[in-house]
Amino acid sequence: MSNFVSQLAVRVKNKAKRLLQGTIQRSRQWVHLKRAQYQPLNNESGICYQSVRDSLTQVNLLARPIVNSMDFLPDRYSFSGMDFSDSPHVEFAHAYLKSGNDPTWDYTQSRYYQLAKAGRLPFPVKGECQARMRCQQFIWMIEQIKRHGYQPKRFGAIVLVDTTDSKWMVINGKHRLAALLALGEKNVDVFIGIENETRAQFRRMSQSVWPPSAYSLSFQAMETLGKLNGEKADEIQQLIEQIKKQKLETWANIYHPLPFYEFGNLTTQVAPDTPYQRLQMILDAAGGDVQDKRVLDLGCNLGFYSFSLAHRGANAIGVEMREDYHGISKKVVELYNMDVDFRKDLLTPELIDDIGDVDITLCFSMIQWVIEQQGMDYGKAILRKISQRSKLLLFDVSVNHGAAALTCPRGQEIIYVQNLLADATDYTDIQCVGKVHPYDVDTRFVFACRHPGSVPQIQSSLSKPQC
Ligand SMILES: C[S@@+](CC[C@H](N)C(=O)[O-])C[C@H]1O[C@@H](n2cnc3c(N)ncnc32)[C@H](O)[C@@H]1O
Repeated sequence: MSNFVSQLAVRVKNKAKRLLQGTIQRSRQWVHLKRAQYQPLNNESGICYQSVRDSLTQVNLLARPIVNSMDFLPDRYSFSGMDFSDSPHVEFAHAYLKSGNDPTWDYTQSRYYQLAKAGRLPFPVKGECQARMRCQQFIWMIEQIKRHGYQPKRFGAIVLVDTTDSKWMVINGKHRLAALLALGEKNVDVFIGIENETRAQFRRMSQSVWPPSAYSLSFQAMETLGKLNGEKADEIQQLIEQIKKQKLETWANIYHPLPFYEFGNLTTQVAPDTPYQRLQMILDAAGGDVQDKRVLDLGCNLGFYSFSLAHRGANAIGVEMREDYHGISKKVVELYNMDVDFRKDLLTPELIDDIGDVDITLCFSMIQWVIEQQGMDYGKAILRKISQRSKLLLFDVSVNHGAAALTCPRGQEIIYVQNLLADATDYTDIQCVGKVHPYDVDTRFVFACRHPGSVPQIQSSLSKPQC
């Protein structure tokens, strides 16, 4: 009898628990759908197009269909992946221009205004006051573009990214694009965004929505980002299989990402945001534009930074001692016809002299290995040589955490790295420009080192304290 009672009590308890969990889940879903409001991108979490001043490409806006980017609004309200020419932005710009300053035209009747008021535009706006302000700013922008033209270098470029079905997805600058389309402009300069970097920028947002099934349009749109290398599909697939078999890392397929669409499903040893955060720091420290810059990537592994900078027109040289990593990078160069010079070499001061003068050197998470192999003096000799040969050095090292880490009293990690760089290099301008957490639980402080006046920096991000 007592057994029956205790079993019954357990069943009742489990049922109550399931009911409670279900109620919590439904309430959270209800709150999400009710709010249905755009959450702005967190620019800290990845590459930020607004601050990158890459070189632009002229495109014909009518040559390919343009679709809306992921907005992570619930499916009922989402515009993700839909034809941009049907968007409320384009509709608004057309209606405004058609009105020809007609005083009776009432923008509050537009779909754009109504959606903005309800917080359902892919833009962080809600309520009557903010919606009015947004419409007024949009009208002002249309007028500016009409009178003075679209000035991407001054006010920021439209960012388009390839989709696997040969469309463009507009990632940034929807209002500018809508104004240009309504004004009948065809050939405009845009920044052709890079698929894996765009994904990285949206990753945090995609992980924060709940339940994911209510945001399927945004997830579907994200899936379409990318440019397929159809010609080499079989060889690429073979390389991916080979990489999986090689077991290069302890808990993932590869150390850091290979920035090409086909390799996007390989798992990485470092936290997914880390390479993109460092890439943003490199671009900021280099003044935004790396076109034709000579970049030396030390301990380059599979070449994430070399490839990413080569995508932006840099002339990259990667140095890596391991044959297996080097073999993969060389194969990728061949498959994608990339202009990167990967060298299988041990890093030595002589090698740096042999490579000669460069604009940017990257030395991420690698000098501790050289110091472990050859001693501290040797590591310092390499740093000295870099400072004689490179205008800019981007550097981090593991301190007090991980294999081969340098050590110092706890709490003094930042000053330890700063002192190391001040002691071992000829750079006089040594600044901490950010931090990364490659294994989630650790912190590496990233430093930019320059000779005075040698490299223009982007003030907006470097002027704020980063560490
Ligand atoms: C921790 S990984 C860092 C990779 C890359 N720099 C990054 O941050 O994503 C260190 C890399 O340096 C390479 N390495 C270590 N010692 C080296 C040396 N003496 N010469 C050249 N490469 C070396 C390793 O094989 C490995 O690929």
